[in-house]
Amino acid sequence: MNFPVLVTGGTGTLGRHVVPLLRDAGHPVRVLSRRGGPSGAGVEHVTADLSTGAGVEAAVCGTEIIMHLAGGQKGDDEATRTLVRAAQRAGVGHLVYISVIGADRVPLGWLHTKLAAEQAVAGSGLPWTTLRAAQFHDLVLSMVRGMAKLPVVPVPGGLRLQPVDARDVAERLVELALDKPAGQVPDLAGPTVYPMADLIRGYLRAAGKRRPLLPVRLPGKAGRAYRAGDNLTLHGADTGTRTWESFLDGLGL
Ligand SMILES: NC(=O)c1ccc[n+]([C@@H]2O[C@H](COP(=O)([O-])OP(=O)(O)OC[C@H]3O[C@@H](n4cnc5c(N)ncnc54)[C@H](OP(=O)(O)O)[C@@H]3O)[C@@H](O)[C@H]2O)c1
Repeated sequence: MNFPVLVTGGTGTLGRHVVPLLRDAGHPVRVLSRRGGPSGAGVEHVTADLSTGAGVEAAVCGTEIIMHLAGGQKGDDEATRTLVRAAQRAGVGHLVYISVIGADRVPLGWLHTKLAAEQAVAGSGLPWTTLRAAQFHDLVLSMVRGMAKLPVVPVPGGLRLQPVDARDVAERLVELALDKPAGQVPDLAGPTVYPMADLIRGYLRAAGKRRPLLPVRLPGKAGRAYRAGDNLTLHGADTGTRTWESFLDGLGL
């Protein structure tokens, strides 16, 4: 019997790439989100809230593989524990989680919640796989777009990113989900490490804008961690193939 693959957050930036890949691989898909969406063509949308637990048990029922992609600015630890409890009760065969590179190194509240969520998955007693990815191009775009609205663009000195395309992350995650549970797998980053200024300049060029850049210093422990490159995996990471420049070209700005 072909059980549906449950994709939490299947309506989000990453989830929207994951769902069609699962369909192409011949799997029925159940998407869990708070707002839902139109079901059809092998994709069933269910509404549930991982923060309150409402609807989660029913969404998990009858699934063998869960890809847990739902996330937000806060509360991913509690939300993941709620999902894990439902998955334990249902005896799920493979729980796949997407986390962020540096979750164990950069001292920021939301990264602490990602690490706690990783621990909930790894300690669940269920077969699991966790992939840490770098920032998606879409996230970097929304950051630099916001910064470029200012007449002078502040550039955090020493901050480097290795952004990855959400399509590359989706392809890797689906491969992992349909394979045997693998525990913590090598991180996935983009093909190039960029100083923040280069990412901003790339965007300004693609958008036909001109702005002066103003170096600023990121304060505190988190600033030190970023300057030390704790948000990067410079050795041993897998890399996606799609570049920041090709992502920008594809937007037709
Ligand atoms: N963005 C990045 O650069 C990046 C990098 C590495 C890892 N990640 C991780 O990848 C995952 C997906 O990121 P994304 O950028 O695709 O996120 P996104 O675009 O913000 O999408 C979030 C998804 O989660 C759902 N969701 C949020 N809170 C929920 C809740 N309480 N209950 C049920 N569903 C909920 C949202 O739908 P509703 O709002 O309708 O509920 C949506 O489908 C997250 O875990 C994130 O931490 C992201």
